[in-house]
Amino acid sequence: MSNTILVGAQWGDEGKGKIIDFLTETADIVVRSQGGNNAGHTVIVGGTKYVLHLIPSGILRSKKMCVIGNGVVVDPVAVAKEIDGLRAQKIKVTKENLMISDCAHLVLPYHRLLDEQRELKKGKNKIGTTKRGIGPAYGDKAARVGLRMADFMQPELFSEKLAARVKENNAVLKAFGAKPVSFKEVNAAYLEAGKKLAPFVSNTVVYLHNALKAGKEMLFEGAQGTFLDIDHGTYPYVTSSNTTAGGACTGSGVAPHRMDRVLGVMKAYTTRVGEGPFPTENEEFSDMLHGMGREFGATTGRARRCGWFDAVAVRYASMINGIDDIAVTNLDGLDSLAKIKICTHYKLGRKTLEVPPSDFRDLTECKPVYIEMPGWQTPTHEAKKWSDLPKNAQAYLQKLAELSEAKLTIASVGPNRDQTIVL
Ligand code: GDP
Ligand code: IMO
Ligand code: MG
Repeated sequence: MSNTILVGAQWGDEGKGKIIDFLTETADIVVRSQGGNNAGHTVIVGGTKYVLHLIPSGILRSKKMCVIGNGVVVDPVAVAKEIDGLRAQKIKVTKENLMISDCAHLVLPYHRLLDEQRELKKGKNKIGTTKRGIGPAYGDKAARVGLRMADFMQPELFSEKLAARVKENNAVLKAFGAKPVSFKEVNAAYLEAGKKLAPFVSNTVVYLHNALKAGKEMLFEGAQGTFLDIDHGTYPYVTSSNTTAGGACTGSGVAPHRMDRVLGVMKAYTTRVGEGPFPTENEEFSDMLHGMGREFGATTGRARRCGWFDAVAVRYASMINGIDDIAVTNLDGLDSLAKIKICTHYKLGRKTLEVPPSDFRDLTECKPVYIEMPGWQTPTHEAKKWSDLPKNAQAYLQKLAELSEAKLTIASVGPNRDQTIVL
């Protein structure tokens, strides 16, 4: 038995979904423990593309159990739609393979509207959120005024609580000069979604505990990435949950000493969507990847900002998450380059930094210090094993592992399930 926490080691979109799908073959249960439908995890199997937002990527293998844990914020209408979409793609979604925690908090329409209004108000200082209402929903959870799945499963109680929350939030929306929400409409749409979700809702902590006792193997599917973590990320340019390894425990109710391994997923370069500091960002490199039709967001369709591999950031991610081994994705994105840069240090004024500064203003001022590695200028997307990779690609990957202070165990050379090399 071995339980693995999979985390994004950068700013999200590292290819977590693809790696989870690959690893699910030998696991029994896949658990999401934080975030909401701000996530977009793309998996391609046999030429068919699936984009998962709230449902764990393990759902694509019909015999595995998927759990949406207590730490996730669930938009019931969005998850009901996601279930319908997967079913339309002939993916089985029943109570035999999906469970939703009764302690998970709900995302409501006023959360989305407040998210939008706060961004508008911030103007050029906006975070660049996905506008899915994630921040306001986690805000309500921390303020102890949120509605949870357990409330939702009791229609009368839900409607009563919703009426009070709509009243308060409409007053705030009015202060922003925004349109209020209609209690009647929200209530009706949510109760409808509630009927659909009811079979999936239960105490997932007890389920996971019993599964542990039975020796089942679990995978914890991180959403977002280390530098979007509410505590450790580039605050305030972050999301509102703990995206780092500890979040898997609090967001699922599985104790830390039951975890066996932390796998860090990272791209062979760096990307970021939304605003905030990004020391290795490079316009020319971004243009090259976008020109190849790559690096457009799975949730909002926005073009991702791209840059060189940032070993300063990943070194810190390794520290925070306790990363044991790494999966490097999108190696093929570098196939055409003659020379590839890796940032090993930052310069902040006259100081040399080995780890990122805590304050985002300092990080904005940091100048990356690069080493250069020779490229391989050979397509890698057909490589099936380590020895199929060009020598320079092997050397590049080993350098990333050395700088990340972790062992390289997976290299990915394409979006398909079978474009995965295990070391
Ligand atoms: P996640 O949010 O971490 O699951 O990552 P996303 O799915 O948002 O973004 C990763 C993107 O890279 C998706 O479009 C994947 O299909 C794609 N992808 C993952 N691994 C590889 C790879 O090794 N090569 C290529 N070309 N694409 C990949
Ligand atoms: P996955 O799981 C990349 C970013 C947004 C914004 C910030 C806050 O696919 O890796 P939010 O809507 O969460 O309040 O937005 O976080 N962001 C992501 N970036 N991948 C994600 O998820 C993200 N989820 C949120 O772009 O900068
Ligand atoms: Mg994504």
